[in-house]
Amino acid sequence: MSKNQTSRREWIFESGLGAAAAALSGKMASFATIDGRPFEPMQAEAKTAPTTGDEKDRVRRMKWWHEARFGMFIHWGLYSVLGRHEWVMENEGIPVSEYAPLAQQFKPKPFPARDWAKLARETGMRYMVMTTKHHEGFCHFDTKTTDYCSPKQGPGRDLVREYVDAARGESLRVGFYYSLMDWHHPDGARCAKDEAARKRFVEYIHTHVRELMTNYGKIDVLWYDVAWPLDAAGWESERMNKMVFELQPDIIVNNRNKLPGDFSTPEQQIKADTEGRAWETCMTLNDSWGYQRADDDWKSPRRVIQNLIACSRDTGNYLLNIGPRADGSVPEDSVRVLTEVGQWLRRNGEAIYGSDPCQPRRSNYASFTRKGNTLFMHVHFWPGHYVAIAGLQTKVKSARLLASGQKIDFQQDPYRVRLTGLPEEVPDHPVTTIALECEAEPTQDNIFVREEKPRDGV
Ligand code: GLC
Repeated sequence: MSKNQTSRREWIFESGLGAAAAALSGKMASFATIDGRPFEPMQAEAKTAPTTGDEKDRVRRMKWWHEARFGMFIHWGLYSVLGRHEWVMENEGIPVSEYAPLAQQFKPKPFPARDWAKLARETGMRYMVMTTKHHEGFCHFDTKTTDYCSPKQGPGRDLVREYVDAARGESLRVGFYYSLMDWHHPDGARCAKDEAARKRFVEYIHTHVRELMTNYGKIDVLWYDVAWPLDAAGWESERMNKMVFELQPDIIVNNRNKLPGDFSTPEQQIKADTEGRAWETCMTLNDSWGYQRADDDWKSPRRVIQNLIACSRDTGNYLLNIGPRADGSVPEDSVRVLTEVGQWLRRNGEAIYGSDPCQPRRSNYASFTRKGNTLFMHVHFWPGHYVAIAGLQTKVKSARLLASGQKIDFQQDPYRVRLTGLPEEVPDHPVTTIALECEAEPTQDNIFVREEKPRDGV
C-alpha cells in the first residue's frame, strides 16, 4: 500500500468517516442489482472530520472492530423454551405469572456456548454478542438485584460466564447485548409516568450494567437495545455510559440507549450511516431473532455472503444472528448455512477483513470490495467463459481468481475490462471472487448511458 493510500485510510478511520469515504469520489447511482433487486446506493455524504480528543480515543477503541467486519449475534432466553419468537410474551399477551415459570423449565445442556464460539470462529466471525437480558427481563448473569436469573433458576449457573469463557477460548471478541426495556420488572412500564418508579428502575438497570461491566473481565462491545419507554434523560444514559467507560476503557457501545455511542445499528437492512458514522447491520438468518421452531425462511449461503460483501464495500460490519434452542443447540439449518459461509471466507476473506471503502458498484452479476489498489469483483451469477466490468477508470495490471490464485487474461479499453478464458462452470461456489490489481485506487464511472461511446456507423 502506498503512503498516499495509507494516509487516506488513516484519515477515513480517524475522522470516523469510513462509510462516507466512498462518497468522496462523487455521487453514486444505484445501478447494480442483486437477485433482481436494486442494490441500495450508498447515501452517506462526507462531513468535516471531527477533531476532538474523544474522537481520537474512539479510533483507538474501534480499530479491531473495523477490521473484524463479521460477528455472531446470539438471541437466547426463556422464549427459546417456547420456540415461538423472542417477542412471544408481548405478541401473544402472555401474563407474567404464566411466563415466569419458564425460568424453571429452562435447562440448557453443559457449555453450549463452546459450540457457538467454535461455529463463529469456523464461520470467519471475529466477535460475538449475546443477549444477557432480552425484553422478557430474564438475566443470564448472576445479579444481586433479582432471583429472575440463570444461576437461581433452571440453569443453576451463570450463562454469561460460560459464554465469555467460550468466546475467549476461541480468541473471539466479547459483546454483551442488554435490553433496557423490561416486560417483567414491575417498574418497567410505569417508570414512564411515575418518578419514584423511574428512579428505582434506573437504579436496577444501572446496577445490571455495572455488574456486567465488573464481573466478567474485559468486555469489547456493549450492545444496548430498545429504550422504551424513556428517553436518554430518563435512563440517565450519559451517566450510564460514563460508568461503562470508567469500568471498561477499551469498550465500544452502540446507539440504542438514545445516545449516539460509537456506532449505529441498522436492523435487517444494509445501509451505510447517513452521517458517515461507523455502522453495523444486524440481521436474522431466518426471520426471527429468538428460536422459532416453524420459521424455515433461511437465507442461502450466497445471500449471506452477498450481504457481508455489501457491508464490507461501505466499511460496515455484519452482525448475523443465531437463535439457539432452549438446550443451547443451534438449529441445523443455521449450522449448514454458516459452515458454507465459513468455507467461502477461508478462500476469500482477504477481500472482506479490513476492506477499504469501495466506489465501483455497477454490475448485473457482481458486487465489489476494495483493499488499497486491489478491486475484488464478487461474481454471484456466473455468466461463463468471460466476465466484464464497464466504465472502470483505472488501468488494470493483473487479474487472478482469489481462491486458487490462477491468473486470468484480460483486455481493457476505455469502456470495458473483459476477463477471458474462464470456465463455463462457476469456479468458486456460491460466489467467485476475482482480484484485479490496479495502477491506482479503482473507480468506476457512474454514467447512466455513455453518451460518448461510439455508435453504429459513427
Ligand atoms: C429489535 C427486537 C429485538 C431484537 C433486536 C435486535 O429491537 O425488538 O427482538 O433483539 O431488534 O436488533
